[in-house]
Amino acid sequence: MPALVPRPTEAAFRSGHFTLDADTTLRLGAGAEPAAELLRTLLAPATGLSLRPSPEGRFALALDPGRGDLCEEGYVLTIDPDAALLLAARPTGLLRGIQTIRQLLPPQALAQAPQPGTRWLLPCADITDVPRHPWRGAMLDVARHFQPVSYLRRYVDLLALHKISVFHLHLTDDQGWRMPVTAYPKLTEIGGHRTESQKGPAGSATFDGIPHGGAYTRAELAGLVRYAADRGVTVMPEIEMPGHVRAALAAYPSLGNRPERTLDVWTSWGVCETVLGVHDEVLDFCRTVLDEVMDVFPSPYIHVGGEECPTAEWAHSIAARERAVAQGLPNPEALHGWFLGRIGEFLVRNGRRPVGWAETGAELPLDFTVMTWRDAAHTLTAARRGHPVVSAYHRATYLDHAQSDDPNEPPAQPGSVVDLRTVQAHDPVPEDADPDLAGRVLGTQAQLWTEFVTTPDHIEYLTYPRLCALADRAWSGATGWADFRIRLDEHTARLDALGVRHHP
Ligand code: ACM
Repeated sequence: MPALVPRPTEAAFRSGHFTLDADTTLRLGAGAEPAAELLRTLLAPATGLSLRPSPEGRFALALDPGRGDLCEEGYVLTIDPDAALLLAARPTGLLRGIQTIRQLLPPQALAQAPQPGTRWLLPCADITDVPRHPWRGAMLDVARHFQPVSYLRRYVDLLALHKISVFHLHLTDDQGWRMPVTAYPKLTEIGGHRTESQKGPAGSATFDGIPHGGAYTRAELAGLVRYAADRGVTVMPEIEMPGHVRAALAAYPSLGNRPERTLDVWTSWGVCETVLGVHDEVLDFCRTVLDEVMDVFPSPYIHVGGEECPTAEWAHSIAARERAVAQGLPNPEALHGWFLGRIGEFLVRNGRRPVGWAETGAELPLDFTVMTWRDAAHTLTAARRGHPVVSAYHRATYLDHAQSDDPNEPPAQPGSVVDLRTVQAHDPVPEDADPDLAGRVLGTQAQLWTEFVTTPDHIEYLTYPRLCALADRAWSGATGWADFRIRLDEHTARLDALGVRHHP
């Protein structure tokens, strides 16, 4: 019985198998063509199978909207020696089932080159599979180190294999702005490049002397969104505000609290003291940027950062202090919530849901979906306030932390080791949550901040197999460490077939 990652809700295997070969055709119900196309695309390099559509096809793909029990992403897969059926209530369910079919085949099916002599056998099975959490995410920081969109497509392919639903793309930060904005071209022209990068963790005294830069085109990002959607993955953009904006301030100093000052795109790591001003021009800027972001990214959720925003500049700025008084705020620190409140309102008015990083779980405007990262207890704090919550607890989901204390591990974020077992054990729902509160926890996601991560190989070394564990936990719930470990051993052959340079 093949070991699937994530583990299906129910799977019973029987003897016998269904063979995919040159004669196999697909019988497609209404709305099933995109899933068939994905199956062909994924299997073609290794198998060369054409999987043409035919009314007589013995492999059926169908939608049944009446199967509400399968929700948005669930599917039923029935495999007999002479017929196979993949059924879902919604198109995304079919896409999830396609990834299961892929994993049921021999691992060679995932290779990117022809595998002559391999028989493409699917074991007879009855599988019913519905995820525990809708939000199973992976965040990649392309601001600290840029990656070309060709790599982002491979990254998405690997997410889809693990039934990850959200690709959180961290597009802007102090050290780089990667999203082109027509109304503000200098964001990428100036903000997309820094002269060098700090060597070692925040606070170290040495720099590498190597310029770093890059930005996407609008067409590249729109193409990535479509590519991901074809695989059932939503790309959620993140545009940081009102902190983590040094690259934007280097491009447009008038957005800051001291417009006379010129700043460079930051070359250091850590928390930068320079933040956006709170004058009307800044809010207009943010709305214009987000208008363009919404044009490119149909994601219902738009992330606006919000964390690590020092308020000293506001306390020292006459204009910011006047803004606080005019808004009836008790002090300049309260401008943080006020600012994000205005941005959140704007997104809601445009039919989107604002998302922010929580410092405590109790500070973001109530219409925000909250990502808790500092402390596991913040998930409950945020849920009690009524926020939908995504658990991004750093000690269990930050993949920029080393995965073991072996001194040979590559440079990593200092602090705790985040090992595979810790990721696998992390339940996004706090133990003491009652059903109402538990229902507000949308799920969990992995974070890969890239201060120390410059290459795709390094990204994959840090991401796999830890993302397999997170995906398993978020889709399947608590399956137990031993069960996961056994399945992962077999799953590793799939990662190898795909050329993933994973951690041993
Ligand atoms: C974060 O780690 N800055 C959310």
